[in-house]
Amino acid sequence: MVVDVSAWEVIDTERGGRDERKVWLSKVADADREEWWLWKPIKPTDRDALRINDVAEVVAHRLAEAIGLPAAPCEYARRGDERGAISRNIAPHTHDMAPGSTLVPPGDGYTVARILAALAGLTGPPPGHTDLTAAEVFAGYLVLDAWIGNTDRHEENWAVIERPDGSAYLAPAYDHGSALGSGLTDAKRERREPRAFCDGGRSSHFGGRSLVDMAREAVDLTGARWWADRVAEVPATTWSGILDEHGALSGVSRSFVSDVLTINQERVSEACRP
Ligand SMILES: Nc1ncnc2c1ncn2[C@@H]1O[C@H](COP(=O)(O)OP(=O)(O)O)[C@@H](O)[C@H]1O
Ligand SMILES: [Mg+2]
Repeated sequence: MVVDVSAWEVIDTERGGRDERKVWLSKVADADREEWWLWKPIKPTDRDALRINDVAEVVAHRLAEAIGLPAAPCEYARRGDERGAISRNIAPHTHDMAPGSTLVPPGDGYTVARILAALAGLTGPPPGHTDLTAAEVFAGYLVLDAWIGNTDRHEENWAVIERPDGSAYLAPAYDHGSALGSGLTDAKRERREPRAFCDGGRSSHFGGRSLVDMAREAVDLTGARWWADRVAEVPATTWSGILDEHGALSGVSRSFVSDVLTINQERVSEACRP
């Protein structure tokens, strides 16, 4: 499905993040914030090709859903002649959203262990996941990141949401637009072995650590091994269906993304399961 948002109302601009073309849209002007969707147009790469950040966003959301992990709903979208993705607002109307940097500032102390400790001390789980702790859910975010090759879980790309009564919970995951090698050109995808790409999955925000190592540490510290079990159970037909829905994805991109998901599924299983 590709949602046509050309006629939707512009509610607000979004100043966070790196692309100033992002705006909040809604079908009607006076909608509650839960009905706002962030329009994230496809970005050009530095070689004038188009990124597939829309594919990364939608695949990440649907795979999160497949393993029972909370993530902002995302859909493929078009606005006029532009393609992109829309991400549904995860901060309810009367709630405040604060970035992860308010709990764990960036820098040397920005580590998996510190994040999990900060969440354990202060924050509950997202709504609908009351059987889990916030730290267990965050471990799931790192397992998802290792699967989809998301190197971008910096302190603005996760958040806590404060209820009117002052209690707070870990926000569902959002901003997966740079996952799955979305910024590569097809020429690069043709040259690069998907396995080499997967093995090179490291996050500069965590001192260049390997994504599967971070996932393993989070699972070890929280005991939340079930995320990796669930990843292992998702059949490839799940992501091939999501890639088909896009309608304009090149064959080269499609096969690279599929290979990355297959290879990382195996790597996550090996790293995070005894
Ligand atoms: N689904 C969402 N619900 C609420 N806020 C969001 C959502 N997606 C993004 N945001 C907010 O918008 C900011 C920028 O969006 P993000 O998806 O991170 O874009 P970028 O790729 O430019 O970093 C985020 O840091 C977050 O504060
Ligand atoms: Mg961001």
